[in-house]
Amino acid sequence: MQTVAGKLMKVFLTRRIPPEGMKILSAAGVCEVSQWDSDEPVQRADLLKGVQGAHGLLCLLSDKIDAEVLDAAGPNLKVISTLSVGYDHLAIDEIKKRGIRVGYTPDVLTDATAELTVALLLATARRLPEGVEEVKNGGWSSWKPLWLCGYGLSGSTVGVIGLGRIGMAIARRLMPFGVKRLLYSGRTAKDYAAEVNGEYVPLDTLVSESDFIVVSCSLTPETQGMCDKAFFSKMKNTGVFVNSSRGTVVNQEDLYEALSSGQIAAAGLDVTTPEPLPTNHPLLTLKNCVVLPHIGSATYSTRGIMGALSAQNLLGGLQGTDMPSELTF
Ligand code: NDP
Ligand code: DGY
Repeated sequence: MQTVAGKLMKVFLTRRIPPEGMKILSAAGVCEVSQWDSDEPVQRADLLKGVQGAHGLLCLLSDKIDAEVLDAAGPNLKVISTLSVGYDHLAIDEIKKRGIRVGYTPDVLTDATAELTVALLLATARRLPEGVEEVKNGGWSSWKPLWLCGYGLSGSTVGVIGLGRIGMAIARRLMPFGVKRLLYSGRTAKDYAAEVNGEYVPLDTLVSESDFIVVSCSLTPETQGMCDKAFFSKMKNTGVFVNSSRGTVVNQEDLYEALSSGQIAAAGLDVTTPEPLPTNHPLLTLKNCVVLPHIGSATYSTRGIMGALSAQNLLGGLQGTDMPSELTF
């Protein structure tokens, strides 16, 4: 059993995690686990207290891990394992400076997130939440030629912003719907885009020529606030906008204006700012805006695999061995 000076290493978990992950941590017998034993986020003060003296930290995307947390943890901290593929909540420069290793969960959630994004796109473009509501509230009086019409994918142009793991999985799923052109933008052209006949274009071209825009990039200083007034003003009036990356890629005031003025047709968001979105938020008053509570990776099996992977990453970092998914920076 690998321990520090004969003692078990201390790890702090900022939330209840899937049982698949807990089993791996218990079976390893190398760490003493303390945990914020709740399905709700840890308060900042409890995070700062819980992490004290920890050798390992397992966190979620809702935990901001910055210099204050690292200082509170102290010099023992060897590894941070996040139960997510996105790592914009981690102060990477600070973490790197202190030689702390980082584990994350790429690939294992790609299919689930792509599937949800396609579901959100279809629900938004074909107005499913409105239709369900009309059935329940008696608004369904008859089959009417012009009632609840939306936009279809057949013959359309789709633009994917960020053709990474998830963006590519979304494109693969959309092509069989009869998409005519698949545009994508990002920092570099991708060889693998050939599989979906992807055309690498400048962002402006993608925005003005697409019928459907899907945002699946990572949140970085360059992508923060990227979808703003200027962006929406270049979209077609019939355009449908979908975001399953991070909420702050979008300027929500500008999105509200674009949706309520008819500048764009509809939007589907799996991610917002803040999360949760307050129930009195203006976006929630719009029929042409479908908002989901950040459930891209939420299948039972995906969350179980994410739990297991985050536990294995944590153990690798504690023991100084390979981590199955280590973030290299
Ligand atoms: P990848 O790293 O594989 O893909 C990220 C993509 O973002 C890359 O293709 C990259 O393009 C692109 N990108 C980076 N900078 C820019 C930019 N300035 N403009 C346009 N594109 C850019 O990550 P994943 O596909 O695995 O995950 C993507 C993101 O999805 C995560 O970071 C996370 O925020 C979000 N996510 C959301 C989930 C949900 O539940 N809604 C679930 C899982 C992930 P390039 O290679 O050219 O730099
Ligand atoms: C991630 O992993 O980054 C998602 O947002 C949640 O699965």
